[in-house]
Amino acid sequence: MRRKLVAGNWKMHGNHRDNAELLSDIMAARPFGCEVSVCVPYPYLSEVAVGLAGSGLLWGAQDCSAHERGAYTGEVSAAMLAEFRCRYVIVGHSERRQYHAETDQGVADKAKAALACGITPIVCVGETLVQREAGQTEAVVKRQLSAVIHALGHCAGEMVVAYEPVWAIGTGRVATPDQAQSVHALLRAQLSAATPHAGDMKILYGGSMKPDNAASLMSQPDIDGGLIGGASLKAADFVAICRVAG
Ligand code: 13P
Repeated sequence: MRRKLVAGNWKMHGNHRDNAELLSDIMAARPFGCEVSVCVPYPYLSEVAVGLAGSGLLWGAQDCSAHERGAYTGEVSAAMLAEFRCRYVIVGHSERRQYHAETDQGVADKAKAALACGITPIVCVGETLVQREAGQTEAVVKRQLSAVIHALGHCAGEMVVAYEPVWAIGTGRVATPDQAQSVHALLRAQLSAATPHAGDMKILYGGSMKPDNAASLMSQPDIDGGLIGGASLKAADFVAICRVAG
């Protein structure tokens, strides 16, 4: 039985005061029956690490460099994130693929860099609306995941995968449980061909997950939790989703 994971992706939101209030409301709702993590903007990692230490809640970042160190202005290495005891780092989010021209290979390199520093990458895959309507969903997500599987080799079983259909992100248009489950099942099948640990791996769904649709999504056999954007900024909604997960 896989333990569910609910990870909040704060994206570029927050400030000292709002973050403190959000985290204190989430902490007050403990204990949770699932794993709970928040992925926060870099400048807040230090205070989040201090605030959540010993709480049972986990934290992470939203990106990392593929490089170990060097003259890469503006980049943050996985080793730096590890110093803040990050448990997770999101890589390959569609917003980064789209706005920062991240390639499948670049995402795979980031996932590898994270694992090398003991941080679990949450690898995002997902098709655009145009791709879905052209019947390319399967080919797109398989291609995205394949690059990471290839880069991680025998460590592929250590990543978390997040299926985030681009057309469902921030749109309020959520994938139906059947639509999501069918993609999750094919991702797990792809993982099964690559690692004996596929049955233990978490595959999260992300894209307009809210308290009122979380149960139907998370009751699907291959949906092991959620990567939550907008609803992770509202303590009541985030906590409600965590309750659904376990
Ligand atoms: P929303 O939950 O706001 O649709 O965002 C999903 C997402 O992009 C999480 O990474």
